Amino acid sequence: MTVVELIERKRDGGVLSPEEWRALMAQYAAGVVPDYQIAALAMAVYFRGMDAVETEALMTAMLNSGRRLDLDHLTVPRVDKHSTGGVGDKVSIVLAPLVAACGVAVPMMSGRGLGHTGGTLDKLESIPGFRTRLTLEEAARQVERIGCVLIGQTDEIAPADRRFYALRDATATVEAIPLIAASIMSKKLAEGLTGLVLDVKTGAGAFMTRLDDSLTLAATMIAIGERHGCPTVTLLTNMDSPLGVACGNAIEITESIDVLRGGGPADLREVTMACAAEMLVLAKLAPSLTAARARAVRALESGAALEKFREIIEAQGGDPRVVDDPESYLPGAAIRSVVRAERAGIVQRVEPRIIGRAITALGGGRAKVEDTVDPAVGFLVHVRPGTAVQVGDAVATILANDASRESAARAAIGRAIEFGEALPLARPLVSHRVTKEGVEELGVSGAT
Ligand code: URA
Repeated sequence: MTVVELIERKRDGGVLSPEEWRALMAQYAAGVVPDYQIAALAMAVYFRGMDAVETEALMTAMLNSGRRLDLDHLTVPRVDKHSTGGVGDKVSIVLAPLVAACGVAVPMMSGRGLGHTGGTLDKLESIPGFRTRLTLEEAARQVERIGCVLIGQTDEIAPADRRFYALRDATATVEAIPLIAASIMSKKLAEGLTGLVLDVKTGAGAFMTRLDDSLTLAATMIAIGERHGCPTVTLLTNMDSPLGVACGNAIEITESIDVLRGGGPADLREVTMACAAEMLVLAKLAPSLTAARARAVRALESGAALEKFREIIEAQGGDPRVVDDPESYLPGAAIRSVVRAERAGIVQRVEPRIIGRAITALGGGRAKVEDTVDPAVGFLVHVRPGTAVQVGDAVATILANDASRESAARAAIGRAIEFGEALPLARPLVSHRVTKEGVEELGVSGAT
């Protein structure tokens, strides 16, 4: 069977066998099958989909294209959280030290920002000296020693996915549910976890804008996790507006430290605590979500979570003074300019895609994988849907390093924030909990 025949079969709505997926991915990873053929296949999958057997086969092929983090000798539970990404989503930065401080081993592998979404690695790298490129051996030793590591996908982890994901990004084929599920789970299962929490973002700023797609993605990933002995729980959380106030790299570290100190924005705290509770229950360190949340609150209030973050920063070569005084030790922007409301009203929408793209225009995001980011730039968005605003109130602060980009950033804020007269109908912040047993509607709001 030639690659062209496989593409034809998928194009015409057929299925590829597990052996065909395995051989195709092995040859792709070895450079035998060219990008253009895999790109054509990805587009065929985009339109025709994949069944559960094919999705599993692709995931396994990508997982087996690399090595795994070997943590089986640890006696403590190993649980990670993965988010499908959004704007202002710094949950991982708070969550990893918080849950590690409670006794869970957290080998967290995150991604870089791309398109309108930010990336945990870029945010962490705004901490002077912080290294996210560790070898698998270094990562394993750090987890053994301090219970947590925050790294990127190394060359050794699922290399076939790494290549395939970059290709999908360049060929408008990222948004295919089976491809997303196989891609995410190939990396997560390589971490050698005993449990996994997925935060599937839904709404205007997520790549899953529709609820039914988010539920399908959740169910697909849960089925893969459970089949591989990794109990998996998914929370669906709202990405109709940015999470928290800070949107950028260094300023998101500052906001994460605020939360680790017991403060920070309510919505960010709520999503973090909801994920923490799930992780602690999966780790069997709490008998219920309520007890787990109480344990996480204690880790915040005692300062243990903040101290764990300091330990992680130190272990990965970063400057730990950031924890005590982020403003002095994180890169700061030369220009801070406040955007004020030109009319009174109630905020209807804060469009996350516009904010995300405007961060990229300021230099703080990536249009292409190889772009470098300016850690200091971004926005503080002071309003959210439902905020009542008077003329002259500060709605956002622009952090820029290049005066010529400021007016475009100001215009973007003007487009992103929409005013009206009535209170907008908001989707819940944490709307659904999905497990292998089914879907539970939660309706948790983050407004308090
Ligand atoms: N994140 C991934 O790692 N892979 C995808 O396909 C989409 C998001």
